Amino acid sequence: MAVPDRVLTNVELTTMVDTSEEWILQRTGIEERRIAGEGETTFTLSLRAACNALHVADLDPARLDLIIVATVTPDYAFPSTACLMQDALGAKDAAAFDLSAGCSGFVYGMSFAADLLKSGRYQTALVIGAETLSRITDFTDRTTCILFGDGAGAVVLEARDAPGGILSSALGADGSGGDLLILPAGGSANPATPETVTQRLHFIHMQGRQVFRFATRAMPDASRKVLDQAGLRIEDVTLFVPHQANDRILQAAARGLGVSEERMFSNLASYGNTSSASIPIALCEAIGQGRIRRDDLIVCVGFGAGLTWAAAAIKWTMPLPAPAPSRRMTARRSLRYRWARLRSLWRRWWRRIDARLFQILYDREGKRKRRGQHD
Ligand code: ACO
Repeated sequence: MAVPDRVLTNVELTTMVDTSEEWILQRTGIEERRIAGEGETTFTLSLRAACNALHVADLDPARLDLIIVATVTPDYAFPSTACLMQDALGAKDAAAFDLSAGCSGFVYGMSFAADLLKSGRYQTALVIGAETLSRITDFTDRTTCILFGDGAGAVVLEARDAPGGILSSALGADGSGGDLLILPAGGSANPATPETVTQRLHFIHMQGRQVFRFATRAMPDASRKVLDQAGLRIEDVTLFVPHQANDRILQAAARGLGVSEERMFSNLASYGNTSSASIPIALCEAIGQGRIRRDDLIVCVGFGAGLTWAAAAIKWTMPLPAPAPSRRMTARRSLRYRWARLRSLWRRWWRRIDARLFQILYDREGKRKRRGQHD
């Protein structure tokens, strides 16, 4: 995982909008969140998280077949953040694309990657959930700005002939609720104009109460469905790793599933809602805290803009703590990143030269044809 250094506390928010520390804490469970600094973007956070994940997995990025970045705040509409990642990691043989499924994006991405690995199409995938929501948060709107934060989390998936890993996944959507959580402008419906900027339409607009009600139903329903599909029971689950949106939603989900709140992992207090990044960040922290052990069954479950929901049942078969990465591979990875930077510079430079050469030949050919016509 990777989060920005800058911390935005509830106290600071009280100086920005009409709110109080108590209100934010009681209604959401959030104490602080991380905010991207200058130069920090979804890509830079993704890259840090991905390098950490590749280090833990002790994998050469050149072996990646697939890179998926789940995000609603890509650096650009295009090129995709996943393509920026492919270039920066030197993952020369990887297919790469961004995935937009709101806060369910990471579980959607993990599910698609797992199915592609199971089909035998690919061997190794990198799935990232990353956001810089602060860039689309209206810090004059107290109903949204208290909720969101920035960060990234990443996992490496590898096809193995052993039981375990991602056992099943359940994905769903209900587009009739699209207007409940929307970034109204900047797309083809409302391209950017001075008016859209003045009307603050490039920020998140949310009907919080309705999203809340949807979430409290979607989380238990998706969790039950994914367990049913895998032929497992709620009692088999060691830990639920839910999307971190609001502690009251997590409590309601725990009640809905009939499990204790301790089995519902929460790190909302430290990061707020980081959308697609929240589940992989929570997963990392749950592992770091020893809340997940080898052979445990965990359920990652999320909901979000779209509206969407998603759950994945995972049997954690990898050793924990992960064995120390080999020195040889660590050195190789570091060389690979440097080589990737050089390769990228070289390809950009060569593309310019190539275009210039093409232009010269094209002009020369044009001149020759004109001269022929004249003669
Ligand atoms: N400080 C003080 N008062 C506030 C604040 C605030 N920050 N925000 C709202 N209020 C007020 C409201 O104006 C309202 O006042 P009123 O009764 O006089 O009208 C009152 O508090 C209650 O407002 P509600 O909206 O009913 O508050 P609620 O308890 O529902 O909490 C919240 C609001 C925190 C937004 C909650 O609804 C929620 O968490 N919803 C889910 C949001 C979510 O998970 N979104 C996912 C988006 S992520 C993605 O996909 C990008």
